[in-house]
Amino acid sequence: MKYFILSILLGVLIISFSSFRDVIEIKKSAPQQKSTPMTRGKVVYTQYCMPCHQVDGSGVPNLNPPLINTSYVLGSKATLVQILVKGFNKGVEIDGDFYSNPMPAQALSDQQVSDVLTFVRNSFGNKATAVTVAEVKALKSKLK
Ligand code: HEC
Repeated sequence: MKYFILSILLGVLIISFSSFRDVIEIKKSAPQQKSTPMTRGKVVYTQYCMPCHQVDGSGVPNLNPPLINTSYVLGSKATLVQILVKGFNKGVEIDGDFYSNPMPAQALSDQQVSDVLTFVRNSFGNKATAVTVAEVKALKSKLK
């Protein structure tokens, strides 16, 4: 009887130890989320742009313009870089709504500008080419 209980205890111990090892192994082999311009751009967007342009890029009527299929978002990369680096206070009309609030300059690195513009140009139904760090660098140097 004593040995019976002992062997059961030993069995439980071995089983729990091996399943513990499984947990560790599962953790080790969990796929790491790969960092891409889109995943990094989403992080920048959430922190810097979302408060005004909203989570789905639809903006706030008559306050902050939408970022969905606008001529700015899909258009000139030079203008986009300028909007982020210098801020924007031109007044825009999008779908019959007027926006005259100023957009403050965004304190972002070249990498962040490249990532967030690539994200915006390929989210919310937008489809446009990526903006590389090299392009941001070149376009920024023309601004000064
Ligand atoms: C404080 C609010 C605010 C923040 C933060 C902000 N914007 Fe804006 N954004 C505006 C406003 C207001 C305008 C319109 C300015 C005007 O009418 O001249 C605008 C205009 C734009 C435009 C051009 C018009 C359009 O809708 O296509 C783009 C592109 C843009 N913002 C992208 C961004 C991105 C990307 C970020 C984050 C890095 C950002 N904005 C952060 C308020 C903001």
